[in-house]
Amino acid sequence: MQIGLVGDIHGAWDEQDTRFFNTAGYDALLLTGDLPRFVGSLPIARALSALTPPAYMIAGNHDATGLVQLYAEMADHPRLKRVTALGMPERVARLAETLSPITLGAYSRHPLAENLDLVVARPHAMGGDRLYFRDYLSRVHGVTDLDGSRAALCRVIDEAARDIVILAHNGPAGLGETPDAPFGCDFDPARGDFGDVDLAEAITHARATGHRVRAVVAGHMHHLSKDGRVWRRTAAVAHDTLYINAARVPRIENGGARRHHIALDVTENETTAETRWVDADGNIVAREALPVTDDGASPAPVDAL
Ligand SMILES: [Fe+2]
Ligand SMILES: [Fe+2]
Repeated sequence: MQIGLVGDIHGAWDEQDTRFFNTAGYDALLLTGDLPRFVGSLPIARALSALTPPAYMIAGNHDATGLVQLYAEMADHPRLKRVTALGMPERVARLAETLSPITLGAYSRHPLAENLDLVVARPHAMGGDRLYFRDYLSRVHGVTDLDGSRAALCRVIDEAARDIVILAHNGPAGLGETPDAPFGCDFDPARGDFGDVDLAEAITHARATGHRVRAVVAGHMHHLSKDGRVWRRTAAVAHDTLYINAARVPRIENGGARRHHIALDVTENETTAETRWVDADGNIVAREALPVTDDGASPAPVDAL
């Protein structure tokens, strides 16, 4: 099957995008979240709800959260975190309603094809080694720490088909510590690998229990570093799993003349992907097979995951 991947949208979506994905022929669409430029996901969610292929989204840290709440989470301010999380279950429910028929997943499993399930990981992830939005995750998903999150993910995987594709907001730990790694920390290089450890452990568990993890699709760590100097590697291969960071931000360039997405092909024994740029009329204007390195060759598989 062929799946269209849309990275962090951050306000870059219009009717041409909807028209393109409704006629492009993808069997399913996966969205990594972060719909608004900063806060306020509902206008983009409303536009996305006109998509007709089966579509699945994971909420990012910018979805159903507020400015003060984001500040509180970053500052790790206990009281402010608690107060600003009070209305979050209702905000997430409203987002899910607005997105419908798109499915907003979280610690959940969704059949994509015979023997192929989608597993949606921890929502609202913000990277690093902390469980962000703990009050919300605890109330709605019973998850109070990263170990509990790993256990919740493993429970979903245990029920899943042999082959799985994982959709996460931030990618897993283990793919590198430098700012140009798929989920390396660019805004504070000293923090190194900014991938999610709960997700990395759940992937290891999936393999150990006989699953084939065909692809892991995530975003959050935007392709271009915050200082505008480093382009990160956007894909990696390890243990027959294709890891993809789809967060090209902004995903629309040149006044709408180039729109980014990734095509993921999953066949019985092969997983391949390519970046596609389409124009406002939906014609492909550029394509590039993933993963790629600076010299255009496939990099050697990484060992960590
Ligand atoms: Fe994000
Ligand atoms: Fe983002």
